[in-house]
Amino acid sequence: MTRYFWAHRMFRTHDCNSLRKSDIGRQETLAGWVNATRDHGGVIFIDLRDRKGLTQIVFRPEENAELTKQAHTLRGEDVIQVSGRVAARLPGTENPNLATGDIEIIPSELRILNRAEPLPFPLDAEPQNEDLRMTHRYLDLRRPRLARNLRIRHRAVKATRDYLDSQGFVEVETPILSKSTPEGARDFLVPSRMMPGKFYALPQAPQQYKQLLMVAGVEKYFQIAKCFRDEDLRADRQPEFTQIDIEASFVTPDDIFALTQGMLAAIFKAARNIEIKTPFDRVTYREALDRYGSDKPDRRFAMELVDVGEIFRNSSFKVFRGALDAGGVVKAINAKGFAGITIGQFDELTEIAKLHGAKGLAFIKIEGGEWKSPIVKFFSDAEKTALQSMLNIEEGDCVFFAADKWEIACEVLGRLRLRIAEMQDLHGRARPPGGSDWDFLWVTDFPLFEWSADENKWNAMHHPFTRPKAEDMPLFEAKKFPEVRAEAYDVVLNGVEIGGGSMRIYEPELQEKMFEALGISAEARESQFGHLLRALRLGAPPHGGIAPGLDRIVMLICGEQTIRDVMAFPKNNRGMDLMTQSPAEVDPKQLRDLGIKLAGDKKL
Ligand code: AMO
Ligand code: AMP
Repeated sequence: MTRYFWAHRMFRTHDCNSLRKSDIGRQETLAGWVNATRDHGGVIFIDLRDRKGLTQIVFRPEENAELTKQAHTLRGEDVIQVSGRVAARLPGTENPNLATGDIEIIPSELRILNRAEPLPFPLDAEPQNEDLRMTHRYLDLRRPRLARNLRIRHRAVKATRDYLDSQGFVEVETPILSKSTPEGARDFLVPSRMMPGKFYALPQAPQQYKQLLMVAGVEKYFQIAKCFRDEDLRADRQPEFTQIDIEASFVTPDDIFALTQGMLAAIFKAARNIEIKTPFDRVTYREALDRYGSDKPDRRFAMELVDVGEIFRNSSFKVFRGALDAGGVVKAINAKGFAGITIGQFDELTEIAKLHGAKGLAFIKIEGGEWKSPIVKFFSDAEKTALQSMLNIEEGDCVFFAADKWEIACEVLGRLRLRIAEMQDLHGRARPPGGSDWDFLWVTDFPLFEWSADENKWNAMHHPFTRPKAEDMPLFEAKKFPEVRAEAYDVVLNGVEIGGGSMRIYEPELQEKMFEALGISAEARESQFGHLLRALRLGAPPHGGIAPGLDRIVMLICGEQTIRDVMAFPKNNRGMDLMTQSPAEVDPKQLRDLGIKLAGDKKL
């Protein structure tokens, strides 16, 4: 066999998506994976695949008996190199769905570069077993959907860098081996060998570093930053994730909003040619809870929460009247066309309501012109008329009520609203007028503090470096903590929090007061935050920023349900990398070097 192409300088002359009619008659070389093999009466058809696409290779015994015999042994995912003549496909056998569908390769050389054992799961179907996918993630990533996601992510990151660069921002890397910054999660710790008994913390976010860079005069910083949080995992949470971390000096929230909107527009355009509408609407935290029962409202469907308390001030229905008399509210949502709700669905909604603190779930269905409900007998005609007009009640609707403290009523109906939208499949349709596929929203004026019942103390809702709103400073000074609003904001897309940020405290005295309000002792302040307080005393400019979550943005652009599908090597919901079997035990010597003794170890 002539092996002339071994001597070629090039491994391949083309990728598998390049050859066309105009190449017919030429001698070319391709390399890739055997995507599929078919045997048609001794003629072997191979779809050769690389990251660009597919090209058909045809081995005919009458043209090359020796090679065809070899081709018989090929199996899916074997890696081969093929040289041959580009030929027209027989009339009628062209494949219009394939860019290379007019041609095929008649090989004169075949080199089997590597064999693949039988695969743990087929690559052409959606594998069901996620553990299996994760264990063999390199195979999973060969599937076109995930390969596409990686490329979309690349384009999103490139657009981010280009955009921020065009706005004068400078990318600065900050340490991974760093010191704990409270962002509300648990830290991952790394023991120090050189200083036994001491630990680095992996950054939950580069929060303090980016503020210190402002003190350093950088003025416009960004970083595609890895963040680490030891918390319970969900579809949109990983222990290790990526933020587009941004900080700027001498700015207002409006500057950060404009920058973020411009950046997101550039990302969506570059990643998938999507035009998004800017500027984004704004709602306050209070209004978001009041109208949607969530601080990350999904406004792609209406079903807003309506306060119907006024109607029931003097009602004879004790449940509603009692809640109002106790200073609470009666709120309702009207699920349009949901009167056909099943018993199973109602039971599930009741469970959700109870899980979030409701004492019960009152409802009214409107069927055959009748109001069907165990509670309707308590309503007067005037109450019914008022309800009908406030909630726009029509035939086929189903109304749910929550009578409780404002916070609980909002939370409960907010959860029901989302679940009912899923049950009715509203996410894709029934948008309010002007609604779009991409519903971006700023949520502003978050509370500065939130009460932790577990710890019996006030915590920072965002983080302890977030400043109170100027107009709420008197409330802060008066220690009316629940009422103080923060100069903090989130950016929300389709009900997902895709970023959060704030204006920071830059006055050392105010930062001290904030630490004090959070119950951080003077000693702890010095040992944990001494560096920051000193920096604030040495000429710190006013500054603020934001950190959009890259994984969540790319997830939404790709139309995926979990950020795992836009990360090359994610962890499972127990925080494990099943492919490398990490975390893993380590050599006892490594522990000895670190001066670490595991609980249960006999001796060190
Ligand atoms: P925050 O904690 O709100 O703010 O985080 C910012 C954004 O990061 C994303 N995110 C996550 N994505 C995936 N997995 C996780 N476990 C995870 N946790 C957070 C979210 C979130 O909106 N330093 C501040 C920002 C600032 O103040 O500038 C911070 O980290 O999209
Ligand atoms: P009860 O008088 O407790 O039997 O409740 C009458 C109806 O009101 C039942 O359908 C309960 O599920 C519902 N209900 C009870 N408490 C509340 C509440 N706080 N908010 C809304 N509905 C409630």
